[in-house]
Amino acid sequence: MDHLPVMYIEALQQLAIKKDGIYLDCTFGRGGHSQGILALLGPYGQLIAFDRDRDAINSELAQRFVKDNRFKLIHSCFSQLEVQLESLGLIGKIDGILMDLGVSSPQLDNPVRGFSFLREGPLDMRMDETTGLSAEQWLANVDEKDLVKVLFDYGEEKFARRIAKAIVDRRLDNPITTTKQLSSLIEDVVPVREKNKHPATRTFQALRIEINKELEELKQVLEQSTRVLSPDGRLVAISFHSLEDRIVKRFIRDESGAKYDPGKFPVKEVDITKGVLRKVGKALKAGELELKQNPRARSAVMRVAEKV
Ligand SMILES: C[S@@+](CC[C@H](N)C(=O)[O-])C[C@H]1O[C@@H](n2cnc3c(N)ncnc32)[C@H](O)[C@@H]1O
Repeated sequence: MDHLPVMYIEALQQLAIKKDGIYLDCTFGRGGHSQGILALLGPYGQLIAFDRDRDAINSELAQRFVKDNRFKLIHSCFSQLEVQLESLGLIGKIDGILMDLGVSSPQLDNPVRGFSFLREGPLDMRMDETTGLSAEQWLANVDEKDLVKVLFDYGEEKFARRIAKAIVDRRLDNPITTTKQLSSLIEDVVPVREKNKHPATRTFQALRIEINKELEELKQVLEQSTRVLSPDGRLVAISFHSLEDRIVKRFIRDESGAKYDPGKFPVKEVDITKGVLRKVGKALKAGELELKQNPRARSAVMRVAEKV
């Protein structure tokens, strides 16, 4: 394997893979988890993987995988899950869905993609470069109030107002086109530094989430997951920050257990809708050994649910 996927063993265990099952890897990346799933599938099993990033789809590893006739790789946002599966006739037939959210190491490490404040590159940040606005284009026109909100909501950045004002002032003279231009501007305006955290960390996270509509994507795929899973099919989601984890946690909570309309009295048996999911265990974190080998796993939280 070329790299170490986060919570690899736990992901495979929690998917409870059946040899002839049909599985989905919503976030193929460089195929670390996919490789593990394929290894556990028998000749009649199937794995369908999604990634919105062309580099992931065209990677050497992906091209090797697609020779396996049990495997199908789709260049698409995972919010298109239901549409894609509909065309394959697989609605309600999926035995397990894996989501390893966020950006991949190759995306972060490639300066041209513009995700990292440590590497000079164009301010792009799109996971799918074939569509949508780059961070540079978005920053060139965004309203100051909207920028504050994004920095505050998606970066939990307490200096959101100062940073937004500095960006808006700067762009009057010069457009902000590179990662280092943005990160050094932030360094200049942030008055207090958090321990062990670059002052641009929160702004870069916020912009990335906005540019890729990451939270909307997550909400949509979760909502579709209950319809595409088969009974007892498993949903396994790995989040890397509290905004994502909160969405996954609430979704599983809301879809588990009986639901009824609290405004409707008296509650009759016919009005009670049973939950479609069953929560499986507590949230999981990476083990000691993995944390030593892969510091990125420190923030990973895995949550698991099962279709009723
Ligand atoms: C953390 S990496 C996954 C790594 C992968 N599990 C592995 O073992 O190599 C996340 C991947 O998901 C992709 N991704 C993120 N959001 C997506 C979305 N909404 N739709 C499709 N792919 C997405 C990213 O492009 C990235 O390649």
